[in-house]
Amino acid sequence: MVHRAFAAALTELPALLPGFGYDAMGLLPLRESVAARYTAAGVPTTAEQILVTSGAQHALNIIIRALAGRQDRVLVEHPSYPNALDAIRAAGCRAIPVAFTTAQGASTKKADGGPALAWDMHALQAAMTQQRPRIAYVVPDFHNPTGQLMPDVQRRQLVRAAAEAGTVLVVDETLRALNLDGVETSPVAAFSHAVVTIGSLSKSHWAGLRTGWIRASEAMIQRFAAARTSLDLGGPLMEQLAAAHLVRALDEPLPARLSALRDNRTALLELLAGHLPDWETARPAGGLSVWCRLPAPVSTALTMIAPDFGIRLAAGPRFGIGGAFERYLRVPFTLPPDQLETAVLALRSAQDRLDAAPQLRRTLKNAPAQAIA
Ligand SMILES: Cc1ncc(COP(=O)(O)O)c(C=O)c1O
Repeated sequence: MVHRAFAAALTELPALLPGFGYDAMGLLPLRESVAARYTAAGVPTTAEQILVTSGAQHALNIIIRALAGRQDRVLVEHPSYPNALDAIRAAGCRAIPVAFTTAQGASTKKADGGPALAWDMHALQAAMTQQRPRIAYVVPDFHNPTGQLMPDVQRRQLVRAAAEAGTVLVVDETLRALNLDGVETSPVAAFSHAVVTIGSLSKSHWAGLRTGWIRASEAMIQRFAAARTSLDLGGPLMEQLAAAHLVRALDEPLPARLSALRDNRTALLELLAGHLPDWETARPAGGLSVWCRLPAPVSTALTMIAPDFGIRLAAGPRFGIGGAFERYLRVPFTLPPDQLETAVLALRSAQDRLDAAPQLRRTLKNAPAQAIA
């Protein structure tokens, strides 16, 4: 489908060649298509409310650059997406981490996996009231890394808390299309005009497109367009032409992709339960990964040993601040079941090596800085 979109884009390119070639807001037909998607999802949106970016990570950098200065506070979920934490840190902002809580009524029996995590609304509200962060960056749709989905009632509470604190709520919807269980929720922007939403084609289609967007009020979009020009002057036109085709038929590739991901998720959870029974796992409602609780704080050590068995993963602390989450490991289920089996067996071998020689933990060098997806 991506290939077809580029083929169509190639035929459309000549019409644009006499023009300037770039634009800080993005190509109008793409902005119109993205706006139409929001309107159809119950969030009336005009093309003037959309700024096209080179992916969601670029979008977040533009937002931070426009709205926050050095030492400003940015509320984040803890754990959170590592590259977002890096962006906040690189801008000199102070991240205010708010931990997840164990979902009420969630089973703690091993057979059912570990307890699911949930947003701690009291803690989020308290952090906003007391710290008055400039920005709150949240991933309510199949949160990376936990895979959790925020219910509508909490979306409403979050919007209210941000409004009361004067905090700009930035909602990253990069994973929203990966709704494996088909649970219906409203986009957070449906609850307030003030919400800033980040979207991307990276997870629904292909990360190589490097195409995403920001949806916000017209005034806010103007600020983002002005801030953007210190980073870049606009996105490449071919990608935007292709993206316009993909956004118009956004749902077309999803059933097949979701079905494959569901199979992968089932396979991974079964493999983990079979080969690593003392790891606690909660079944994610969507997204691309399982956030595993380990029996000991050995995440970094495991990720240092795992490459010897052919597997590379980001250690738990990559998803936190100050060395947190040494007891957690995110395991993606992007690979098909046979390759997931190889990966889980590799993790088993890494754990066995560590169990046999616990002193290894002290001799391992620093954890790799890179986190995938
Ligand atoms: C929550 C979240 N935000 C942003 C990104 C980056 O997206 P993009 O490739 O559009 O920059 C990812 C990629 O994994 C992600 O999981």
